[in-house]
Amino acid sequence: IPVDPFDLVIFGGTGDLARRKILPGLYRRFQAGQMTDAGRIIGAARADLTEESFRAFVREAVEEFTPAARRDEASLAEFLKHIRYVAIDAKGEGGWPQLKALMRADVVRAFYFSVAPALFGDLAERLHAHAIADAQSRIVVEKPFGRDLETARALNAVLAQHFDEHQIYRIDHYLGKETVQNLMAVRFANILFEPLWKAEYIDHVQITVAETVDVSGRGAYYDKSGAMRDMVQNHLMQLLCLIAMEPPYHFDPDAVRDEKLKVIRALDPVAPEDIVRGQYRANGKAGDSYADHAENPESRTESYIALKAHISNWRWKGTPFYLRTGKKLRARSSEIAITFKEPPHSIFDDERGWRENVLVIRLQPNEGMNLMVMIKEPGPGGMRLMQVPLDMSFAETVGADLDDVPDAYERLIMDVIRGNQTLFMRGDEVEAAWAWADPIIQGWETRGDRPQLYDAGSSGPEDALMLMHRDGRRWRDIRE
Ligand code: BG6
Repeated sequence: IPVDPFDLVIFGGTGDLARRKILPGLYRRFQAGQMTDAGRIIGAARADLTEESFRAFVREAVEEFTPAARRDEASLAEFLKHIRYVAIDAKGEGGWPQLKALMRADVVRAFYFSVAPALFGDLAERLHAHAIADAQSRIVVEKPFGRDLETARALNAVLAQHFDEHQIYRIDHYLGKETVQNLMAVRFANILFEPLWKAEYIDHVQITVAETVDVSGRGAYYDKSGAMRDMVQNHLMQLLCLIAMEPPYHFDPDAVRDEKLKVIRALDPVAPEDIVRGQYRANGKAGDSYADHAENPESRTESYIALKAHISNWRWKGTPFYLRTGKKLRARSSEIAITFKEPPHSIFDDERGWRENVLVIRLQPNEGMNLMVMIKEPGPGGMRLMQVPLDMSFAETVGADLDDVPDAYERLIMDVIRGNQTLFMRGDEVEAAWAWADPIIQGWETRGDRPQLYDAGSSGPEDALMLMHRDGRRWRDIRE
């Protein structure tokens, strides 16, 4: 369904995110017919570009970041007609009158702040001072949303001076992923799982986001963040919320976000012995360690983290959530595995083949679901048990061409135009997540903890294995 006519202004329009994600994403939506002729994209950045040269930039971005099979010259040429540019000075007055003159009346106005958070206040203020934004306009902001509770609060306060919460779209691109949304469908559109979805029946949950990429090229940013700030406080936290939250009364922005917020607030502080931090070291190839990539030989920043979290509420008391994420691991694999408890009583004499039921939701790659169940081993050998997978790949089962579903950014930008905040983080949610993460980070800093080194291409540090072993459990293998 096509979205309403809009003017989307991208501040930081010549930046990396615009080039890699926003502009190619908008092109794909245009091509799919979702962005009608009445949609317009206005690049705004410091560079003194002509409209021509910005269009050339957009063309290059689309060509570089859209697979050849998914683009065509005719639609690209048409798309470029929807592009405008204005050189703007975020901290001064230059360009603002021109921007105002470009904006059309009676269309949705959205402003994407694809710039450093230090500029959020300046942009918000000038959008109002020049009467470019009004009570209906929307702004989009990216992570990192602060680097701790204090800075997140300050950002929320700056934005709140000029915009209402219902106008602010804080992106966590994990929420825009097809399979992440599927978590909600699996949980709340089936009767099968929900009655068992609690500490009484669930032994533990594992959430893994393993990456093979390193931090080269973005070491300056990454070294100041680390895995906790870069991945856990936001992406893994959102996954945990979707798994742990109570059923919202409706699939509606505040109903969903209220339930997520309750989960975050119910998280216990994490004890230092329940966290393992790691940093990758070169595995045979000189110059390829984290310290090389971060260009900081003394760095104590973690590129890997594994931790055990507890949620203190009626549903989850006693069921640990093990979270891990890292760079430069042996495979790219994100999944959530829910391990159920043993049946209360066994009627079988030969229990050797018995294993727990496990529900695995694969987020990427090979999106799908796998439910491990017990059956009788076929044949004459008596009642012997064996575990088999009820395996479903979304690509095969639904016939979905997953390359063809909108990617996270495409979907989220269209949601901004539609005015749907369900998949965006609310200010209080972000603050609660920092309130949980802050003491953990502060603990490392005051103790001067160093991350444990792990080999690039491995499954992470040894101690991470111990984190589960000592509870009599084990991590699932990391593999594609
Ligand atoms: C980003 C992080 O938010 O998410 C990156 O800053 C990380 O460090 C990326 O690599 C992972 O996203 P995806 O969609 O590739 O899983």
